[in-house]
This record gives sequence, structure tokens and C-alpha cells, in this order.
Amino acid sequence: VEHFSGRTAFVTGGAGGFGVEFARLFLAEGMNVVLADIEQDALDAAAARLGEQLRVRAVLCDTADRASLAKAADEAIAAFGRIHLVCNNAGVGGLSGGVEEISDPQWDWVMAINLMGVVHGISIFLPHMRAHGEGGWFLNTASMAGMLGQPQMGPYCASKAAVVGISESLYFELKGSNIGVTVLCPGFAKTGIARTDRLMPPALAAEAKASAAGAVRAAQVSHAVATGLEPSEVAARAFAGVRDGDLYVFTHPDMKPMIDHRMQRIAKAWDKAIAFKR
Ligand SMILES: NC(=O)c1ccc[n+]([C@@H]2O[C@H](COP(=O)([O-])OP(=O)(O)OC[C@H]3O[C@@H](n4cnc5c(N)ncnc54)[C@H](O)[C@@H]3O)[C@@H](O)[C@H]2O)c1
Repeated sequence: VEHFSGRTAFVTGGAGGFGVEFARLFLAEGMNVVLADIEQDALDAAAARLGEQLRVRAVLCDTADRASLAKAADEAIAAFGRIHLVCNNAGVGGLSGGVEEISDPQWDWVMAINLMGVVHGISIFLPHMRAHGEGGWFLNTASMAGMLGQPQMGPYCASKAAVVGISESLYFELKGSNIGVTVLCPGFAKTGIARTDRLMPPALAAEAKASAAGAVRAAQVSHAVATGLEPSEVAARAFAGVRDGDLYVFTHPDMKPMIDHRMQRIAKAWDKAIAFKR
């Protein structure tokens, strides 16, 4: 990706930690930015903080709901004409707890936002990008949780592995076109992610206290988020990856040994497959 000035970015979760920092970077590049979020107060605060009224629009939407995101996309297109960079970034942490403890509605809620929100963002904006022909990019926020499963975080890890998977699918589908994809896999950063109970339907939030092991994990996550990277650093790293046209972006070098370990286990499994005799 070579030039950004005068182009328009659409950022889901734009009122939150990474989303606002993406917006800040894009504005500094001379882009227009649409912040799309489910939290009206946070949206207003984010737009006010960014201050560039002419080049910023805030739209309320729920990315889990295709019609709601499509309406937000229409508003964005009405405001700025063409959308070039779509950050499918809205996401929730979900409950901590063992796989056997998490209810189906809890799974559905996390997957609807973390996976289907990304699916909707791609399927709504890709035809628009193809039609305007000026080139485009998807920046999908997954997580290190999508690279390695963690205990007591089944739905979140599954949803983020799914975001990696769909980003890879899209990468191959778009090869040779002027539209591309980057999947961002951060570790912990200081955002509102540990407080996603605030967005949970009340019946699901009531489940939150049920699991002892889940409570331990939730406390660990809160601590890791509070002592994590600045979201501005993660955003800067992600934007550098988009500029370079990278498929994968990582932000936490200290987590590489965990992934190396996983790769080694996979390599050993391959050795066994190769050596296997019936
Ligand atoms: N902070 C971390 O440690 C971390 C690490 C890895 C990945 N992530 C991912 O980063 C992304 C951004 O989260 P964040 O860390 O900035 O947290 P955050 O809670 O500060 O921001 C997320 C934003 O998404 C919005 N949102 C949630 N559900 C939505 C929906 N259905 N429709 C529209 N907007 C919705 C929230 O209102 C919030 O403003 C998420 O996908 C998250 O899973 C975060």
C-alpha cells in the first residue's frame, strides 16, 4: 500500500483502545476516518478526543448484526464516497471458564461479534471496494489467542483462530487484485477488553461469577491488560504492516517462544505422520 492521504478508513470498535489509535494514525496520514461502535458515549468521547470534525464521522452499529453494519457502511459511503481501508477490529473478551462450563448463548455471543462481525465487514465492503476500483485493504484484529489456545478462554481463542483462518482465506482469494489483507495478532495491551462484561447481555453477564478457574483466569487477564503494551504502539505496528502489505502482524516479541514451542510440537507430529506404518 503506497498512499493513504485523501482515502477513507472505516474502523469497527473505533471508540475503543486500538480503534481510536488506528483513527489517530490515519488522520495524521491525511485520511478520513469513520468510527463505528456499539457504545454511543464512548463514540462521542472518541470523536471529541480526535477533534478533526471534518474528517471524522462516528456511526453507531452492531457488527454482529449484518443489517446494522450495512447501514453504517451506507452512512460512511454517503459521508466520504469511497472506503479504502476497513479495520474489522470490534471484539469482546467473553467469559473466562472451562469449555464444559460455557453456555451455548455465551459461545454464540462471542462468535457473533468476534467472527461474524469480521465476516460481515468483509462481505459488506469487498463488493464496494471492487466496484470503486481504487484499491483497498482489510486490517482484521485477531489476537495471539488465535495463534495458540489458552485455558479458560475457549470461545475467545476459537473466535480469534477463526479470524486468522478467514484472513488467510481472503488473502488467497484476493491474490493478484489491488485489495489485500493484514491480520493483527497482538498480545495484551491497555484497553477496555478486560471489561467486556459491560457489553454482555444481562443474562450472560450473570454467568460470569460461576467458574472458580474462570475467575482466576479473568484476574490474570485483567492484570495482563493493565500492564500490557500501549494501544498506540500496537496500532503503529499494525499500520507499518499494512504499509508493507504484510499478511501477519505480531506485536509482542516476548511471546515468540510460545509459538516456537507450538511449531515444534507440530513438526514432531509431522515426523510421526511421515514415519507411520500400519
Ligand atoms: N487489548 C488486548 O489486550 C487485546 C489483545 C489482542 C486482541 N485484542 C482485540 O483487539 C480488538 C479491539 O479491542 P480493544 O482491546 O481495543 O478493546 P476495547 O474494549 O477497548 O475496544 C473494543 C471496542 O469494540 C466495541 N464493540 C464491541 N462489540 C461491538 C459490536 N458488536 N459492534 C460494534 N462495536 C463493538 C466496543 O464498544 C469497544 O469500543 C478486539 O477484537 C480484541 O479482541 C485485544
